[in-house]
Formats: sequence, structure tokens, C-alpha cells
Amino acid sequence: MHILGIDVGGTGIKAAFVDTEIGALLSERIRVTTPHPATPAAIGATLKELVEQYQWKGPIGIGFPAAIQHGVARTAANIDPSFIGLPITDYFSQQTACPTYMVNDADAAGLAEIRFGAGKGNTGVVLIITIGTGLGTALFINGQLLPNTELGHLLLENGVEAEHYASETARLTKNLKWKEWGTRLNLYLSTMETLFWPDLIVLGGGVSAKLHKFSGQLTTKAPVVAANFLNQAGIVGAALFAKEELQRVA
Ligand code: BGC
Repeated sequence: MHILGIDVGGTGIKAAFVDTEIGALLSERIRVTTPHPATPAAIGATLKELVEQYQWKGPIGIGFPAAIQHGVARTAANIDPSFIGLPITDYFSQQTACPTYMVNDADAAGLAEIRFGAGKGNTGVVLIITIGTGLGTALFINGQLLPNTELGHLLLENGVEAEHYASETARLTKNLKWKEWGTRLNLYLSTMETLFWPDLIVLGGGVSAKLHKFSGQLTTKAPVVAANFLNQAGIVGAALFAKEELQRVA
């Protein structure tokens, strides 16, 4: 089954066709900059253009940086606050004129890793953390997702919100060396470990390719591995989510 996967991030919007049977991209990835302010109308217009560019009328899966409860956006940390309370699935479905399935972006990335990537076949508790503009989390048990965990907003023992302390944005704005940032990330991972005791921690986002630069700072008992899909996980996972939703209602 071919589905257009779209990953909406705080900085960029990426899209590609995905073969959901094997979890692989079928086309070149297109990336456009996320409009600012990132309002529903502005993002909707960007999605419409993307879909038109692909001349696509079939199902689309969209990973989105908010908690999405039964098609309604509930949070808006790195996007316009007017998203909160919006029936976002219906809204983007109308804008794109395609059957639309929406999922939190970290949950999407997690789904790709659990079905086809670094968490494949793991029957325990797997925590996937996507590191980018924000800190996204996805929690799985025996391959089953607990949706919309917003654990990047956890307050650390130093009183700082994890997302503000250990995201990619924090690393870049504070100009931190890999080891300095790795020590920050370790505080977050260790805190998560004492709360959830995952069997495996998977790190996603662009920094996962640099794990070797900060793995020396990480002290969790659970193994920490890089996402297999690196920064394609969001696109693949969004399409997988759409496929699983389609199968569920069929
Ligand atoms: C949002 C999450 C999202 C994460 C990564 C956070 O600020 O609250 O919903 O998954 O950023 O984009």
C-alpha cells in the first residue's frame, strides 16, 4: 500500500511516498520550510501545495508536533497556539482534499522504529525520543503504542523543562559541545529511566547520527541506540499510522 507520508516539524515539513509493506521511501523526499507564524491556515496551505506537487488524491499520513486526541490538537509548544482545540484531522483533510490520518510526530517516528527499525521485534518497554526543535517521546509495550506521551515537557530536577534543556535547539542556541550537551541529555534519559524503566531507548532526529560523539556521557542501564531511519522516521511512521488506521476501520 502506497501512502504519502508527511512530517510536520517546527522547522521543516518533509514528505515522500512510502511503501508501507516494507517501511521504505518510494520517492525523493521534498522539504519545505515550516511557515511562521505556524498557523493552521499557513500550514494547511503548505500541505495543499505539497499534495498538489505530488498530484496525489490518495491517503496521507501526517506526523504533527502536538498531542492529537481523536483528531483534535491538544497542545502547541512549537507551533501557533491557535491549533489548540482545532479538529486538525478534518481541517487538513479539507485543505488537502485527501483522506488524512494524523498522529503526533514522535509517535509516528516511534512507529517506524518499532515496526521496521531499531525497536523491531522488541517485546518489552521501548522509549523513543526524537530530538529536534522540541523533544518528542513515544512509548511502546510489546509493539503497542501509548499515544501522546508529552514527556519532553517534564521538569528536570534543576527546575528546567527537559525540552528547553536537552533539545537540538538548546544545543544550538547555547552553542554546546557534544559532551556538554550529552551530559544534559543524560540527565533527561536518567530521569526517564527512573520513571519508566524502559528496556530500550531509541534516539531519533538528526543528532542520532552523531550518537558516537556523546554516547560516552550516557549512563542509563537501558541500552541507548540510534534510530535506524534517522530523520526519515517521521515520514515513514506517519504513513504506517495511516495504513494501520485504514486497516483498523476496514
Ligand atoms: C511537542 C510534542 C512533539 C515534540 C517534538 C514538543 O514540543 O509538545 O508534541 O512531539 O515537541 O516535535
